[in-house]
Amino acid sequence: MATHQQGKKQRSRADWLLLVVGLILGSAFGFWITPTILYAEKPQPLQFNHKLHMEQVDNGCKSCHKFREDGSFSGIPGIKSCKNCHSGDEPLGNTPAEKEFMKFLKADKPIPWQVYARQADNVFFSHAAHAENAGLECTRCHGKHGESDKLRPYEYNRLTGYSRDIWGRGPIGLAGPPDRMKMDDCAKCHRDNGVNQACFVCHK
Ligand code: HEC
Ligand code: HEC
Ligand code: HEC
Ligand code: HEC
Ligand code: HEC
Repeated sequence: MATHQQGKKQRSRADWLLLVVGLILGSAFGFWITPTILYAEKPQPLQFNHKLHMEQVDNGCKSCHKFREDGSFSGIPGIKSCKNCHSGDEPLGNTPAEKEFMKFLKADKPIPWQVYARQADNVFFSHAAHAENAGLECTRCHGKHGESDKLRPYEYNRLTGYSRDIWGRGPIGLAGPPDRMKMDDCAKCHRDNGVNQACFVCHK
């Protein structure tokens, strides 16, 4: 009888131990391994230093990220705008970034930047509405990218192809903008600002 009791006690202790070990392994999988399996990296075509360039321009961010006459946003500046300062003949070409950059300049080829904030094709987004009409700061949605001195690798979800920045970099995805830009995050700010909640506002 006594040994039977003892065996039961030992067994239940072993069960608890298994449960705890299982929880730890499970969490490790969720927090650490899943993101590693789920996301793949693509390097940017070359490095770009926002901080250095902000010291060279006269009109802040708008020197390069302009709104056109028709109100549309020009996005990432083309190679032509780099040529305002970089002729291609200058003695630039010591660092790897400079060498890569020289190749694009000489060939007059567009630089295939990966866009961290890129949304799926069925999502409509307008910078004029947000940065001009609503007067939102770039940092509200993009964080400190405009002050950065180098680019991190672009990461995308292997299953959906979405940029990792949409779901956020945290393992449990509880953040909001600028660390994450999911449908809920867009909708939350829209609700707070009385913007029409209909699906067709954001989906075309
Ligand atoms: C307003 C002038 C100006 C414009 C416009 C400009 N640059 Fe530069 N850029 C500079 C200056 C000045 C340097 C520093 C040069 C040096 O260190 O000798 C520089 C340096 C660089 C470097 C080397 C920096 C490093 O960290 O190794 C790269 C790469 C570069 N620019 C890319 C670009 C690209 C891409 C564009 C276009 C989107 C661009 N630049 C537009 C002025 C400009
Ligand atoms: C000299 C030109 C230049 C200036 C000035 C400049 N940018 Fe950029 N910006 C670029 C280039 C080139 C890229 C593409 C490489 C990259 O992602 O950084 C870019 C990309 C970006 C992106 C895209 C990030 C994504 O989702 O992929 C953001 C956001 C951005 N810039 C914000 C800013 C802000 C904010 C400022 C002002 C504080 C600014 N930029 C000033 C040239 C410029
Ligand atoms: C309300 C959030 C929000 C604000 C504010 C905002 N952006 Fe964006 N930005 C986005 C989203 C979302 C995308 C991706 C759009 C897409 O995929 O259609 C984006 C994309 C970009 C890109 C890449 C564009 C391209 O199509 O190549 C640049 C550059 C950029 N933003 C710069 C800026 C700058 C500079 C400001 C400030 C003047 C700014 N953004 C303000 C949300 C925002
Ligand atoms: C920080 C607040 C904020 C965030 C985040 C935000 N929006 Fe908005 N959005 C606004 C405001 C404010 C307006 C109304 C602007 C106006 O009056 O034109 C608006 C308007 C719009 C419009 C209507 C533009 C038009 O044609 O009138 C669209 C589409 C839109 N947002 C899409 C998005 C999407 C997609 C996202 C997420 C990727 C997003 N927004 C994130 C604040 C936000
Ligand atoms: C404020 C802007 C906004 C509104 C309003 C909105 N969506 Fe979205 N929706 C998004 C964005 C941004 C994404 C992409 C990011 C994501 O998956 O969260 C998305 C993604 C989706 C997806 C794909 C989900 C996935 O995981 O791939 C579906 C389905 C969808 N929306 C349906 C709807 C329906 C139905 C409505 C109306 C009830 C609606 N959306 C209203 C912004 C919006």
